[in-house]
Amino acid sequence: MADNKRIPRKKALKYMAIGSVASAFTPFLIATGCNRDVKSKPGTYLGYDEIFNSVYPFSLAPLPYPADEFEPAIDTQTMEIHHSRHHQGYINNLNNALEGNAELQEMTLTQLITNLNELPEEVRTAVRNHGGGHLNHVIFWNTMSAEGGNPSGSLAEAINESFGDLNTMKSEFSSAAGTVFGSGWAWLVSDQNGGLKITTSPNQDNPLTEGLSPLLGIDVWEHAYYLNYQNRRADYINAWMGLIYWDKVAVIFEESLL
Ligand SMILES: [Fe+2]
Repeated sequence: MADNKRIPRKKALKYMAIGSVASAFTPFLIATGCNRDVKSKPGTYLGYDEIFNSVYPFSLAPLPYPADEFEPAIDTQTMEIHHSRHHQGYINNLNNALEGNAELQEMTLTQLITNLNELPEEVRTAVRNHGGGHLNHVIFWNTMSAEGGNPSGSLAEAINESFGDLNTMKSEFSSAAGTVFGSGWAWLVSDQNGGLKITTSPNQDNPLTEGLSPLLGIDVWEHAYYLNYQNRRADYINAWMGLIYWDKVAVIFEESLL
């Protein structure tokens, strides 16, 4: 263990306290996957909250559906490579970054990302890129469903309040995803007052670091679509918009308000 990679115990506990107490989005840490109705759906999202609250060494959970679930919108090979190589790669690199940092190994994935700017400088970039990559992909896999559907309950009300209507929200989301320069993500996020907005992030940054709660995110890295869509990102986005698991997003939103 390299001593220069360690941070004082007291300081590590402070980071954990920030993540577990001060963050306005703490409910999000414990919210996901807790809804009985969603969990009762076959083949879906068991273990989502466990991943968010997991600690080192991190590991890759199976996809919550078969890899061919979204054919032809997202082809099987893309799903397999995306999950087993790209997502696994982020996890491997995150584990490597935390090797030898006993205190950071006690922090949950979400605490690491929420408190990113407080982490030791020598690991911050690696956690930002690879911890973010792990967290972002967990959100990505778990908020897609072949069943489609529409927002309901308080989520539907919040969308209407923040955007006017669902179509406007979808249009803004698609436009944001389409204009991300290079690799990154577009997000539907809620703020501390439960207001919704669309944001984007470069690379593997996550809205939690900015104090926002991610409800839904689309991966617009080319590895998410290039085999099937090549440079036609707009077509991928349009197809993906029909795969949003709105019931799950509604649960994340409702429980983030608790
Ligand atoms: Fe990805």
